[in-house]
Formats: sequence, structure tokens, C-alpha cells
Amino acid sequence: MAVNPVDTDLTELDDTRDSTWSPYLRAIPVSGIRRMVDVASRMDDVIHLSIGQPNFPTPPHIIDAHIEALQQGQTGYTMDAGLPELRESIALYYARRYRRTLVPENVLVTTGATEAMYLALTATSAPGRQFLVTDPTFLLYAPLIRMNGGEVKYIPTRAENGHQLDPQEVIDSISMRTYGIVLNSPSNPTGTVYPAETIQTILEEAAYRGIYVYSDEVYDHLLLDDDIEYASVLRHATDLDNVMAVSSFSKTFSMAGLRIGWIISSQGAIRKLRRYHMFTTTVANTPAQWAGVAALNGPQDCITDMVQEYAARRDRLVQLVGDTPYLTGYWPQGAFYMFPSLPARVDASAVCMRMLRETGVCTVPGDAFGEHCLNSFRISYSTSMDRIEEAFERIMPWLEKQRFE
Ligand SMILES: Cc1ncc(COP(=O)(O)O)c(C=O)c1O
Repeated sequence: MAVNPVDTDLTELDDTRDSTWSPYLRAIPVSGIRRMVDVASRMDDVIHLSIGQPNFPTPPHIIDAHIEALQQGQTGYTMDAGLPELRESIALYYARRYRRTLVPENVLVTTGATEAMYLALTATSAPGRQFLVTDPTFLLYAPLIRMNGGEVKYIPTRAENGHQLDPQEVIDSISMRTYGIVLNSPSNPTGTVYPAETIQTILEEAAYRGIYVYSDEVYDHLLLDDDIEYASVLRHATDLDNVMAVSSFSKTFSMAGLRIGWIISSQGAIRKLRRYHMFTTTVANTPAQWAGVAALNGPQDCITDMVQEYAARRDRLVQLVGDTPYLTGYWPQGAFYMFPSLPARVDASAVCMRMLRETGVCTVPGDAFGEHCLNSFRISYSTSMDRIEEAFERIMPWLEKQRFE
């Protein structure tokens, strides 16, 4: 079973009180999912609703391009900012998609969105700077901000309104110390997609006050309802002076292991980030960058097929959650996650662990994603419909038997 390593390989860091290690490593938590996956790995017959990557094969034309690059000797370093052909392709692709002028100098190619987010946040976080982050949130952002002395202020979202972000609440949370706002739509772990008004309002206020907006858009193609036009910051920002948009090939083209992502921002910001990138990973993987060129310029129907399948699973999952005792769901419009709640004050961490031990269904408790969602847990439907059905055949009677206060 493959899980996102960001979710998992952190146990060693539990020991950071040992004086060998920089105190900043303490900003990296021991992940909630680790406990679950450790227990699951010692069990038979586990159904994983915990996977953070697509369960589809990488499209063959992308694999072919990767192999061809290797065979043609594309095994050296590229330019530090990325393979020129890939920077050009990314700029063109997004210029067309969002109808804005973009040139290769607006693009930095990185080792996945993870490196892109690492560079963006750690290059700008500093003591005295506050960053607004939704809660629940993807688990990367808060530690990266804190590692460099920045402060995280959480903005809780709620299952009752589909974990939508109230832009007024964001504006009301801005203080003299606020330096940045981190957005992630479609969201991991909630699957929530923000409408254009939310993005526009936040961007306008941020630009007015000179606050940076960091937008993690790795699920930008996984939109599961027909009527949605994706509200990227690249579509709605007047200029890119205070905006960093991050994405990657991992989810859209099922290429997580090839590790290619990017940042799109102002040319000035990209110049600074290039220096940092050279001292971090130097360049992204060369043959995988060629695979990326093929992904952007090749047939796009592989995305449509994937999205159709995710949408069918999402529809069924919403029904199943609705029919399950004690669970409150909502309508997640993107990615491949849902984040249902148990009754208030129920400790989802304990429930998920017992559920794993007693039914063999592995989910991820809410404490892995923030501080305000301890009665919720993440279900990933990046698994087959049959496995989803089977998981609920186990979960439903089990929850029926529980007696929550
Ligand atoms: C919201 C979000 N951002 C970033 C990433 C990391 O993506 P990449 O594989 O491109 O590093 C993930 C992976 O799960 C994610 O869910």
C-alpha cells in the first residue's frame, strides 16, 4: 500500500529533544496517520480509505516520454529554473486556461508541489509574520511556517457548510502581523472547492493590504461537478505581485512518484526562489520533466476519464455516509476526499483506531489536519468502488453498535 510520504515518515522526529537536532524540527509533528498505518501494516485484510494519491495508472504516452528521455540520454541537470521546454509548456498551458499573460520567467519547476510549497513558505516565513491557514488543512503548511519562526493563525471551517471558507472571516482575521494567507482548493482533506467570489474577495483584500496569497492548486483538475469553472488565483489575481500559485503533475496525471511540480508567480519572486531552489534540490528530475512536457501537450482525455470515475465514487460515498449512523457529511466537489464528522466532542482519533482494529477499515483522524476538527476524519475514495462498498458494509453495523454520549 502506497501512502503519501508527507503523511507518514515522521516518527523519527519524535526524538527532536535530543540536542543533536535543530529545535526547528520540533515544528514537524508526528503524523496522526502514522499511528494508523503502523497498526494497519500489522493487520490482514485492511481496506485503505487513507490513500493520498490517485489509484489510476500513469497514462502510457507519459510513461513513453519518460523512457524515451532516458534512452536519449536526458540524464544530466537541466537549467535550475527547469527544462526550458517544460517552463514554456506550463506558461502556455496556464495562460490559455486562465486567459492571462504568462511567460516562462513566471515559472519555477520543482520536485513536486511539496518542494514548491517548501520554497514559497520557508523563503518568506520569519518571526513576527503571521500566516492565516484554514483548519482542517493539508498538513504541510503549518510546520513549514513554524520552522522558520512564523506564526500560524487557524481559520476553522465546518462540515455544516461543506467546509467553505467565509471570505469575511478571513478579512476579519487579518491583523497588523498578517503576512500571508494559504489557500488550498480543492482541499485536502475536505474536497471543498471555493467559488470565484471567495477567491476574488480574498485576493482583492490581500492585494490592498500587501499580503501574500499562497495557493496550493494540486487538485485543480479534479472538479467533480459539471458546472464548476475552477477559481484559480491565476485567473482572478489582477497581477502576480503578491501571489504564488503552486501545482504539480502528481494528481492530475497520476504521476506522484515522478515528482514534478511548479510555482507560478511574478518574475521578481521567481528570480529569488530560483536562488533558494539551487541550494535546496538544484533541479527537478530531468526525464520526469520531459514526461511533464508530454503530459501537458498530449491528449487530455485521461483527465476526463479519471474525473468521471472520481465523481461516480463521490456520489456513492455521499449516499453511504448519509446512511451511516452518527456521520454528518456534505457535498465535496473536488479532489478525492471527504471529511465527515462524528457527533461533537467524540474523539475521532480513538474512534478511527478502534474502527481500524475492529473492522479493518483505515481512515485518517482529524487531528492530523488541524486543531478544530477532532470529531472528524478523512475518507479518501482513491480506491475502487467495490472497496468503498465493502468498507461501508463493515463500518455501518459497527457504528450502529457504538453508544456516543
Ligand atoms: C494539498 C496537497 N498539496 C500538495 C501535495 C503534494 O503534492 P506533490 O506530490 O506534487 O508534492 C499533496 C499531496 O497529497 C496535497 O494533497
